[in-house]
Amino acid sequence: MSRIFVAGGGGLVGSAIVRRLERDGIEPLVASHDQLDLCDQAAVDEWFAESDVEQVYLAAAKVGGIHANDTYPAEFMQVNLAIQTNVIHSAWRHGVKKLAFLGSSCVYPKLAPQPLSEDCLLTGPLEPTNEWYAIAKIAGIKMCQAYRKQYGFDAISIMPTNLYGPGDNFDLKNSHVLPALLRKFHEAKSSRAESVDVWGSGNPRREFLHVDDLADACVFLMQNYSSADIVNVGWGKDISIRELAELIRAVVEFRGQLKFDASKPDGTPRKLLDTSKLQALGWQPAIRLDEGIASTYDWYRSHVEFP
Ligand SMILES: NC(=O)c1ccc[n+]([C@@H]2O[C@H](COP(=O)([O-])OP(=O)(O)OC[C@H]3O[C@@H](n4cnc5c(N)ncnc54)[C@H](OP(=O)(O)O)[C@@H]3O)[C@@H](O)[C@H]2O)c1
Repeated sequence: MSRIFVAGGGGLVGSAIVRRLERDGIEPLVASHDQLDLCDQAAVDEWFAESDVEQVYLAAAKVGGIHANDTYPAEFMQVNLAIQTNVIHSAWRHGVKKLAFLGSSCVYPKLAPQPLSEDCLLTGPLEPTNEWYAIAKIAGIKMCQAYRKQYGFDAISIMPTNLYGPGDNFDLKNSHVLPALLRKFHEAKSSRAESVDVWGSGNPRREFLHVDDLADACVFLMQNYSSADIVNVGWGKDISIRELAELIRAVVEFRGQLKFDASKPDGTPRKLLDTSKLQALGWQPAIRLDEGIASTYDWYRSHVEFP
């Protein structure tokens, strides 16, 4: 049985990849941040020298929202560049056969045409609020391409859309819109509040993919794809924040009103990935948004402490 390492295996994406591999009877290697600091070049190299790994899913990263990116730009660049450089270089040096690098849709230019196709990479300026993170991720893509070109290393790069699911971050200070709304509606229901405030006009459109679908796509691409060209992974359709809020209200069974606070920023009007390339390769997402939200809500109720 081949040995598979999921770097960042305790995170939202990494733990979903671990669950997906376990479904196939594979028990991948994981190392917690405390056991192996992926920013420590010598430790990472020693780990690969001793582990005899054949495949790597690189799902470790320093991630965060606009506020975190804006407050810690140096850390976002330094940590992500270090993790990628160390893992990709040592994986290649110690004979790993294949590596899948996880990027993000924020690598695409701010004003690129929607839906965002893989071809629009490096065709214009980035969204300034997360450019530190985006530049680091673009460097990761380029490292995969450079190691393939110079050494023939089979490194692929996967760009997921917005994700949600079990293990998500429900902290209202830095969570994404879907888990933040789930928590707000749940708390409003528990306290019998009359309404829930939703930031912005409700008109922006966003795409959401269940993290278990992403994990399935990562395993599919690991097994069926080998190219320098990046691949988008998304749901393929977007919905408005208003529709999302209505869906979450229904799942949570909150009977009060929605109040849209148009004084708060909307952000970009639309963000949708073009997933035609992945579809042509033969992969489709399976988890409907309403079902995914319902199961994520079940997870939230059984895992997260309530105020
Ligand atoms: N979540 C999304 O919506 C989304 C969307 C698109 C792309 N992605 C991509 O998916 C990847 C994973 O994201 P995620 O949402 O799963 O993030 P996450 O939940 O924060 O997981 C990241 C993992 O990396 C580990 N890590 C960070 N620094 C480390 C270090 N120096 N040494 C060892 N481990 C370290 C973290 O461990 P600790 O927590 O212990 O530090 C954590 O287990 C990222 O590349 C991200 O860009 C995510």
